[in-house]
Amino acid sequence: MLDDFLSPWVKNLEKSDIQKALQTTSKPDIISFSLGRPDNQLLALADFKEVIDELFLPSNLQYSPPSIELKVHIVELMKERGVLCTPGEVLLTTGAQQAMTLLSKLFVNMGESIIVDQYTYPGFIQVAQALHAGLIPIPVCFQQGLNIKELESILELNKKPRLLYTISEGHNPLGTSLSREQRTELISLVQRYQIPIIEDDAYGFLNYEKVEPPLKSYWREGIFYIGSFSKIFAPSLRIGWIIASEAIIEKLEILKEGFDINTCTLSQKLISCFFAKRSLKEHISKLKEKYKSKRDTMVAALKTHIPEMDFAIPKSGFFIWGRLPPSINTNRVFKVALEEEKVSFLPGSTFLIGNNREAQNCLRLSFAFCPIENIEPGVKRLALAIHESK
Ligand SMILES: Cc1ncc(COP(=O)(O)O)c(C=O)c1O
Repeated sequence: MLDDFLSPWVKNLEKSDIQKALQTTSKPDIISFSLGRPDNQLLALADFKEVIDELFLPSNLQYSPPSIELKVHIVELMKERGVLCTPGEVLLTTGAQQAMTLLSKLFVNMGESIIVDQYTYPGFIQVAQALHAGLIPIPVCFQQGLNIKELESILELNKKPRLLYTISEGHNPLGTSLSREQRTELISLVQRYQIPIIEDDAYGFLNYEKVEPPLKSYWREGIFYIGSFSKIFAPSLRIGWIIASEAIIEKLEILKEGFDINTCTLSQKLISCFFAKRSLKEHISKLKEKYKSKRDTMVAALKTHIPEMDFAIPKSGFFIWGRLPPSINTNRVFKVALEEEKVSFLPGSTFLIGNNREAQNCLRLSFAFCPIENIEPGVKRLALAIHESK
């Protein structure tokens, strides 16, 4: 009966592997390397506690226009990343997830196509599916990410795609950061074909080595930049932002109203208060220091306990993308790891668009959420699971 009520495309909708992992990860006996969650110890709870009482005002529980104060803070924050913009070029959104939904809705009509990395953030795949857009995957290089030559061949062959979605810094799931050469070649290619880019920079503020500025700073008009407070403050606040021209922001504001009327007032105030009382620079450098130690701990543990895993050390973000010998199937390892060894990760196939046998022996490990002292024990458990699933 219910099936008759549903629109046809919804009938095959399934929970993403990430949503499923969210349930298993919460079990206390599991060491979790599966999700891109920030560390509980780094959620600035004490700072929030300090200001929360003074924020309990009727006006903060009301509908409200976007906070100009917060937009001004974002403009300052973006300067740190080498992107210059004005408050009028900032749209506050309900997380980066809504930002990518709004931008895609603005540019893509049903049946049109979007170019994405062959392995990408599943949240974006869901956005494209809901728009009935076609996804064109670009094959990636194992440790470098975006493959410009492959992109060029796709652009030569295909009827013009509407846009390209990519994660230039701390890629999810590949952990890659685009080099300066990749950035300049990408920009000159998309300028030649006049294809706009959605640049998802959800992890862009968490760098452990020197990195390049976002693509936005290379091509102001053609790059639609997405930022998020989820990884540098707290995901539950659900605050992200878009940087685009004022004309585009105006259209997006109208679209957004149909989605959620306004971004949570209390969350906007909470973040503004934090900016007013604390040095954001200090806050972010503390996060970088902590996540860098976690990254280094995981790298050392992988080299010791799983020497057969091939991986690059990420410069930014939360993820290590590993490749095991071709005889190992990471979907099989996943089952054994969870059921027998009580450790979780996400198999490469979770992020794959299309068919690629290479995904079978790949996996994504997040070093961010798990307490640092559990990282080496977790990697040892993973080594056992790989051995048992052979
Ligand atoms: C690449 C990427 N973009 C966007 C998001 C969603 O961010 P937000 O919590 O701001 O919606 C995530 C969350 O994991 C992500 O990995």
